[in-house]
Amino acid sequence: MTVSIVAMTAAHVDALMPHEREMFGTEAWSANAYRQEIADTELRHYVAAVDGAGAMLGWAGVMVIGETAQILTVGTVPQYRRRGVARTLVADLLQHARDRRASEVFLEVRVDNDAARALYAAAGFTEIAVRKGYYDRGRVDAVVMRRDV
Ligand SMILES: CC(C)(COP(=O)(O)OP(=O)(O)OC[C@H]1O[C@@H](n2cnc3c(N)ncnc32)[C@H](O)[C@@H]1OP(=O)(O)O)[C@@H](O)C(=O)NCCC(=O)NCCS
Repeated sequence: MTVSIVAMTAAHVDALMPHEREMFGTEAWSANAYRQEIADTELRHYVAAVDGAGAMLGWAGVMVIGETAQILTVGTVPQYRRRGVARTLVADLLQHARDRRASEVFLEVRVDNDAARALYAAAGFTEIAVRKGYYDRGRVDAVVMRRDV
């Protein structure tokens, strides 16, 4: 499977919406929220991972303000998991942060999301803090992770 990274478009938003609620539950974003996010190209960088035929495999976004980058979302369509899609997406976000002269990058991840914590640890992030009750209306903690860009 070849994986290419392209700028996220409104068509990608439509393609990801069926997966968004299933993956992110109460934290799921609406299509409208995504459209607003991708329109803000000054601070934000949203990308889709696509295969050779253009099918969307995953998506991700990062925001850079000053020297600080924040990963906003990363998702891989279930049938394409464990094939390096998210690794490729995160590498693209880090390259963008580097291009924008950010010096450090942060993210939050649910404490019970073992797959994502393993993904970010493998990408060089370390866990620096816990935000109590950050998700699910106070029920689930967030782990804050950071790495140098
Ligand atoms: C987390 C997620 C993005 C990983 O996507 P993916 O494309 O399957 O990840 P990759 O194939 O690029 O995996 C890269 C590395 O991450 C780690 N990893 C990924 N999924 C893992 C899992 N289920 N269990 C353990 N480690 C995992 C491994 O180190 C993996 O390398 P390896 O396959 O060589 O062992 C995907 O499971 C997903 O979309 N989950 C739902 C949405 C989500 O939780 N997003 C993150 C929110 S912060």
